[in-house]
Amino acid sequence: MEVVSPLPPGPSAAPAVQTLRWVLRPIAFLEAARREFGDAFSVRFTGFESPMVMLSHPDAVRALYTGRDHGLPPGRTFALRPLLGERSVLLLEGREHLDRRRLMLPAFHGERLRAYEALVREATEREIATWPVGRPFAVHPGMQAITLEVILSAVFGVTDPARRERLRGLLIGLLDGTGRPGLQLGVLLARRFGREGPLARIAALREGVDAVLAEEIAERRADRQVERREDILSQLVAARFEDGGAMDDGELRDQLITLLVAGHETTATALAWTFDLLVRHPAVLRRLLDELGAGDERYARAVVSEALRLRPVVPLAGRRLGSELRAGDLVLPAGTDVTPAIWLTNTRAESYPEPYAFRPERFLEQAPGTYAWIPFGGGSRRCLGAAFAELEMRVVLATVLERLTVEAAGPRPEHAARRNVTLAPQHGTRLVVRARPGTGARAAGAAQPAACAHT
Ligand code: HEM
Repeated sequence: MEVVSPLPPGPSAAPAVQTLRWVLRPIAFLEAARREFGDAFSVRFTGFESPMVMLSHPDAVRALYTGRDHGLPPGRTFALRPLLGERSVLLLEGREHLDRRRLMLPAFHGERLRAYEALVREATEREIATWPVGRPFAVHPGMQAITLEVILSAVFGVTDPARRERLRGLLIGLLDGTGRPGLQLGVLLARRFGREGPLARIAALREGVDAVLAEEIAERRADRQVERREDILSQLVAARFEDGGAMDDGELRDQLITLLVAGHETTATALAWTFDLLVRHPAVLRRLLDELGAGDERYARAVVSEALRLRPVVPLAGRRLGSELRAGDLVLPAGTDVTPAIWLTNTRAESYPEPYAFRPERFLEQAPGTYAWIPFGGGSRRCLGAAFAELEMRVVLATVLERLTVEAAGPRPEHAARRNVTLAPQHGTRLVVRARPGTGARAAGAAQPAACAHT
């Protein structure tokens, strides 16, 4: 008789209580489970038949992410399909998934991305010109505005001003609908009680966006020189699968929305967290400024890595096991839903001395193991836009800090609050900015004499 190993123990509270704690206080939930159960534990969420095993030891993460036959857990697919579409690279599995990754990867290659630096800088300059000077404001919405502009230009490549305006409005509606804190709970409850829930409204919003994207795609198809264009849509239109086929219009729309949803809120949130950390660590901020001033971007890279370690914006990136997983004493049978708890992996004392300290230097001293730093997930599903996001974060930070001084608006660091699939700073990272002396930079309030700080 086959002996099936039991899943690791976990919190004993009812699924509804575990779900509430996870939705409302995710970090406290994870830390409490780590204290009680160690590196691996099973949790039960409302709306799911089977438990989810959360693990954090890098060896177990490696075993999970290098396994070739694992699929996706149901949570990713049911919550995202109405928004992203049937053929989203984030949702397909097996051969279909790998074919899409192969086709899409060249567009995200480091060298290609350099072309987007100027776009990011310009979008940042336009945004910071609207910021109030000397008065507290939340920087997260500003970061969202920048990352949306960058996606409209670098990914969608929309240049026609009227269409860009129309698309921006529709996308803001769509993103707003998906970013609400209560959405995840609403989806889980609707699933539990067999209702359509908030996803039906999101599917309707998506139809409006699709209509505008269809116009853009038609123009791109008609352009004989499409491969010369630098935006990612053009590269996807020109790219071919191994069998010579191309993505059809419906699929292109799915991948564009996927790149928007995967890349917009995540990068904006990571930036908001990075500012929250920087303004509370003046020595780090000073060194960052010095090194940027000297034209050396190594420390900026380390700042971004350390911010993503200590404030991972995506908490889970799981798989459904296609075969048994073994790592040390841990044995999990095929069919189990498993996810690294990214926060717990990124803050293991065995991997990082003083794991809760913000110390970018650690990334200059020694690079962490591949599976000890996993803000972008891993293996054959690792974030396609990781290099894009890191470049964008470095350019936004450099552009803001070159022109403005930044201070925290209050004494307390931000708590993590859930915004759909991301963990975001609860109050949006409230800052006070002033023009940096000697730059002549302008933000919106710079014309007001009382607030004017630049020379
Ligand atoms: C700081 C910003 C970002 C973070 C923290 C982040 C994080 C993640 C994570 C955790 C995953 C799941 C990986 C897994 O399951 O192993 C993922 C997947 C993905 N991300 Fe990102 N992401 C970011 C920015 C971006 C950007 C800018 C883009 C594109 C413009 C992007 C596109 C994607 C895509 C297409 C996938 C699906 C990959 C697949 O399933 O093969 N992401 N991301």
